[in-house]
Amino acid sequence: MSNWVRAHTNIALIKYWGKKDEDLIIPMNNSLSLTLDAFYTDTRVTFDDALTADELYLDDMLQDFTALKKVKTVLDLVREKAGIRSKAKVESYNHVPTAAGLASSASGLAALAGAASLAAGLELSSVELSRLARRGSGSASRSIYGGFAEWQKGSSDETSFAVPVDDADWDIGMLFIVVSDKKKDVSSREGMSRTVRTSPFYQGWLDSLDEDLNAMKQAIKKQDIDKVGVIAEQNALKMHATTLGAKPPFTYWSPDSLKAMDSVRALREQGYSVYFTMDAGPNVKLICRQSQLEEIRTHLLSDFTGSQLIAARPGPALHVVTGPEL
Ligand code: PMV
Repeated sequence: MSNWVRAHTNIALIKYWGKKDEDLIIPMNNSLSLTLDAFYTDTRVTFDDALTADELYLDDMLQDFTALKKVKTVLDLVREKAGIRSKAKVESYNHVPTAAGLASSASGLAALAGAASLAAGLELSSVELSRLARRGSGSASRSIYGGFAEWQKGSSDETSFAVPVDDADWDIGMLFIVVSDKKKDVSSREGMSRTVRTSPFYQGWLDSLDEDLNAMKQAIKKQDIDKVGVIAEQNALKMHATTLGAKPPFTYWSPDSLKAMDSVRALREQGYSVYFTMDAGPNVKLICRQSQLEEIRTHLLSDFTGSQLIAARPGPALHVVTGPEL
């Protein structure tokens, strides 16, 4: 009997944007994220001699070759390490509110790394799991841990992995403003690759990162929500600025993303500690005090619908799930 493994998604406060090695997924810069309770993936892997090819079922639906690509990378690495030749059946359930447009590769690939290594009888450390998840999707390397995690870029497969930073057991939360559930036009993979190759602003992004990262770690240590928010917001804006300089240029922002940013600024003027960040899509994620999540959500109901606003709190590390939790 194989086990189900659960991984929660994470949102970066210092973004990963750009690869030094596209095959091994070695990033250009360190990144730092918060793992969240609200969105997660449950995955079970079964190696079976009777199978002639790997199979991936996502929410009970058999997926095509394209969806299987990243999954196969992780399965092949596990097979190689464990000396297994059989193909695998991968069953995965994404617990992301319907149509949230947030289906993240981070929780999916982290859960797969955990479930595949467990099914293969490998006993991997967190660092080894993080390296394995990284090969599926960079941001997945951070979803091995609960709370805040830092993906240290390293310079090789062995040295590029995430480590825990802080358990986030303090007054911090996130509020998602879902402005679109459509699949993004430019994937994060293509977006960061194009930016690294063609944007004259990319070097400026890289040059400013050490300062952001150090200041962010200090702010987390002090549990200073305003400092965390200010740095995260500036860091996200800088990342998104690089895309406008790319050839051809692109942006992940939509008119509704700008509307969400305006709402955040208005709330700040009312005295709330609230800041935003954005990833490779138009949805906006707010960083605020956990104790003010509901109050802020109520204010935002004048600009957005209830189903567009999802509150999240710090989430746990990768773990095996049994009966009642499933
Ligand atoms: O790991 P990927 O390919 O999903 O890239 C994630 C990139 C960003 O979400 C934009 C930033 C980040 O650090 O998560």
